[in-house]
Amino acid sequence: MREKTAVFHVRDVPVYGDVILSPMAGYSDVPYRAICRAYGSAMQYTEFVPVEALLGRRVHERFRRRLDKKPDEYPMVFQIFGNDAEKLLEAALRIEPWGADIIDINMGCSTRKVSGRGAGAGMLLQPDLVAQTFGLLSRHLSVPVTGKIRLGWDATRQNYLEIGRIMEENGAALIAMHGRTKTQKYGGQADWDAIARLKQSVSIPVIGNGDARTPQDIDRMLAYTGCDAVMIGRGAIGNPWIFARQQRKALTLAEILTAVRHHAAEMIAYYDLPAGLIQFRKHLKAYLADVPGLDDFLPPLLATTDPDEFERLLRQLETAPTFAKSACAD
Ligand SMILES: Cc1cc2nc3c(=O)[nH]c(=O)nc-3n(C[C@H](O)[C@H](O)[C@H](O)COP(=O)(O)O)c2cc1C
Repeated sequence: MREKTAVFHVRDVPVYGDVILSPMAGYSDVPYRAICRAYGSAMQYTEFVPVEALLGRRVHERFRRRLDKKPDEYPMVFQIFGNDAEKLLEAALRIEPWGADIIDINMGCSTRKVSGRGAGAGMLLQPDLVAQTFGLLSRHLSVPVTGKIRLGWDATRQNYLEIGRIMEENGAALIAMHGRTKTQKYGGQADWDAIARLKQSVSIPVIGNGDARTPQDIDRMLAYTGCDAVMIGRGAIGNPWIFARQQRKALTLAEILTAVRHHAAEMIAYYDLPAGLIQFRKHLKAYLADVPGLDDFLPPLLATTDPDEFERLLRQLETAPTFAKSACAD
C-alpha cells in the first residue's frame, strides 16, 4: 500500500489534503463533518465554543456536543473563543483530553455579541491579549495551538501582518485567515492579496479562506496566494463534492440524492428522531437549491419527521418523469 504524503504539518500533526471545511456554527457538526470528510475535507474543525461554557462544574450538553467527535476524525480541531487568556488556557486544558489534536482560537467572529466584548475579531484590536494567549497555550498544552483571524477590525485597521507575527512569535502552529475585516462581515470580496502577503510574512502554514466556491476557485486561491490549504465555508453548504473538486453543476440528481441519504442517515444516527430530520432541513434545502421543478416535492420532504416517509418521498422524486434522467440545472 502507498504511504499517504502530508501536504503540510501543523507542528507535528500531518494534514493530508489542501481543502478544508470551515468551522461553521450550526453546520460543521459531527454528521456534516463526516460527509465532508468522506469527500476529502482534510481537517475537522468544530463549531466555536465560548470558554465560559467550558469552565463551570458541568458543561452544558449543548456545548459538550459541539466538541463531540467520531473516533476516526483526524486531525480534530476544537475551536474556542474568549477575551481572557487565563480562561482560554483553563478551557483549553479542560478540553484537550476530550480528543483534540489541535486547539484553535477564534479571532474572526464579527457578531457584536462576541467581538463587542473583545473576543472573536475583537482580539485583533488587542495584540497584547493575542501574545499572552498564544504564549500561555503553546507553553501549557501538549497539542498545537492555532488561530483563525480576519484582516483586522476595519479598513483602516488591517493589522493581520502584525497579528500573524505575534501569533508565530508566541508559538502558534498555523494561521487560517478569512480575507475580510470585521466590519465587512460577509460582504464585499475576500482579499486574496492579503492572504498572499500573510503567507509570505510567516513561516508557519497559512490556510486561505473567503469566497472559494468552485474547484477552480480552490486551485486559483492556492496558486495566487501560495497558501497551504483552502478553507471553504458557505460554498460547502449543500455541496460536500467541493472537497473532491467535483463540479456542482455536473452532478446528477442520483448523485445528489446519494449524499442526501448519507447525510440524513448520519443526522438521524447522531441527533435521533425527530431532531435529526428537523435539523437536516436547512441542509436539504441547500442540496436541492439548484434543482428546478421541485415545487411539489420539497414541502413534504421538509415537513416529515418519519424516515420511512422521507425515503418514500425521495424515491418518488427520483422516479418522477421530470427527473428520471436529469442532471443538476445550470
Ligand atoms: C453560518 C456560519 C457560521 C460560522 N461559524 C463560524 C465559527 O463557528 N467559527 C469560525 O471561525 N468561523 C465561522 N464562520 C466563518 C467561516 O468559517 C468562514 O470564515 C467564512 O464563512 C468565510 O468563508 P466562505 O467565503 O468560504 O464562506 C461561520 C460562517 C457562517 C456562514
